[in-house]
Parts: sequence; structure tokens; C-alpha cells
Amino acid sequence: MAVPPMTVVQFENGPTKSASSPRPSRRETLSARERLIVALDVTTKEEAAKLVEELGDSVEFYKIGHELIFGGDGIALARDLVAAGKQVFLDAKLLDIGNTVERSAANIAALGVTFLTVHGHDSKTMRAAVAGRGESALKLLSVTVMTNLTQDDLSEQGFEMKSDQLVAHRAKLAAGSGFDGVVTSAREAALVRQTVGRDFLIVTPGIRPAGADIGDQARVMTPARAIEAGATRLVVGRPITQADVPKAAAVAIIAEIDAALAAGVGAA
Ligand code: C5P
Repeated sequence: MAVPPMTVVQFENGPTKSASSPRPSRRETLSARERLIVALDVTTKEEAAKLVEELGDSVEFYKIGHELIFGGDGIALARDLVAAGKQVFLDAKLLDIGNTVERSAANIAALGVTFLTVHGHDSKTMRAAVAGRGESALKLLSVTVMTNLTQDDLSEQGFEMKSDQLVAHRAKLAAGSGFDGVVTSAREAALVRQTVGRDFLIVTPGIRPAGADIGDQARVMTPARAIEAGATRLVVGRPITQADVPKAAAVAIIAEIDAALAAGVGAA
């Protein structure tokens, strides 16, 4: 199946191929295809490699999360994908004392991956990650509030703030700590865009094409609405990985992103 023609808009500092090259300051254009990140939420490197092969040229950016990192050879997979010219988002969601976070971020930067997540609860942890990535091309994303958490879940953790207020607060904290962007629900993308301005990366999971099963996600949005709300990149897992024909599902989502870009709304 062919990938639809691309509409590109000015949006963010674009990807870089190597962790040793300096991060570019100029804005580059992002196509609909480049905006899709497929979450490889499987438990073995072999299963992930099979999916990557099936998706072929339709997808160029993959997210590797905890299931693969712990026991699934996720780090080796990250190396293989980078060597194959794909971009990798290592969703390690770091949270530890500064010394550990700094050294972990330095090791991850050396892998040549493009994005790394750190829990954005406090600026101390985030500044440690910034120190660890040094002059590398690694971009740091703060996890604001997990997209499966409801207001009741946040109250249980002792937060009195509303979910969107907490997201905006953490987005500001991330920007002030030298981070490149946030991972947040698409439902909060417009608020984050207003809070942190145009150049900050907004990466949104919890994406569901109209009519798709939402699974355990609580705050979902369609691909088109997420782009309209100002999301830079969309993370999509099960709607693609569990589709009967994953490549067809990816191509359909790229077409939806492309149509939203062509309509010219949102997307900064
Ligand atoms: O299958 P689905 O599209 O729901 O997958 C979403 C992916 O995004 C999962 O890999 C999940 O770990 C990740 N994620 C999330 N919410 C966050 C951060 C990451 O759902 N706040």
C-alpha cells in the first residue's frame, strides 16, 4: 500500500541522525509520516523486528518501552534500528537520584536514539538528565501525567490540582529545566502549546482513530484532533500493532495526519 503524499509545515527542530552531532537550532519541516511514532509494545526483540519489517517504509520512528528494555533486548533493538536509519524514542521514563539519572542519560545518548523520557516531577531530576546528555543530539521529553490516569487516580496520589493544571505546571517546569518537550495526552496539547510556546515538542500518546478500542487509556483523541491541538508527534501503539494489517493501519493514520496538516489548523 502506498504512503499518501505529504504536506509539510514549519514546526520543530528536526531529527538528527547521530547523538554525537550538535542539536540543530534551525527549524525543519516535518511530514505526516515523520510525525507518527509507533510504540513497539511487544515483549521480544524478534516480535518487534517482525513488526518493523511488516511496516517497512511506511514508518520511520519507533518507541521502545519497558517491556522491551527489561528482558526483551530493547537496547540491542534500539541499536539495530538506529543502524538501519530509523529514529528511536527510548521510553525509559527515568526517575532516580540525580547522579544515576545523569549517568543513565549519558549512556542512552551514546546509543544514538532521538528521544528519551524522564518523569517530569521535579527540576532536579530533569537538570541531571540535561547534564547527562551533554552536547549530544538526544532530545529529552518530560512525562507530565500518564495518559491512563484519571482525576481520581491523581487524588489518590495526593494531588489537589486538576489534571490539566498539573500538566501545564510540569510542562513549564520541563521547559525551565532545559528539556526539549513533553509527553502528554493530546487532550492537553492545546493547553501545553499555549503554556510553553511554539518550539517545544509535544508528543502525544493515547491516540485512537475514530471507533477504535480505547483499551486502558483514559484521555484519548483522534490523530487529526491531536494535530489540530498542536501535537508535534503522535505515539500510536495498539491501533497499529494489533491491527489485522498493521501497515494499512499506519498508512491510514498518516493520511489522517496529512489531511489535518493540509487543513492548516493547529500544528503551530
Ligand atoms: O497502545 P497505545 O496506543 O495505548 O500505546 C501508548 C503508548 O504510549 C504506550 O507505549 C505507553 O507506555 C505510552 N505512554 C502513554 N502515556 C504516557 C506516556 C507514554 O500511554 N503519558
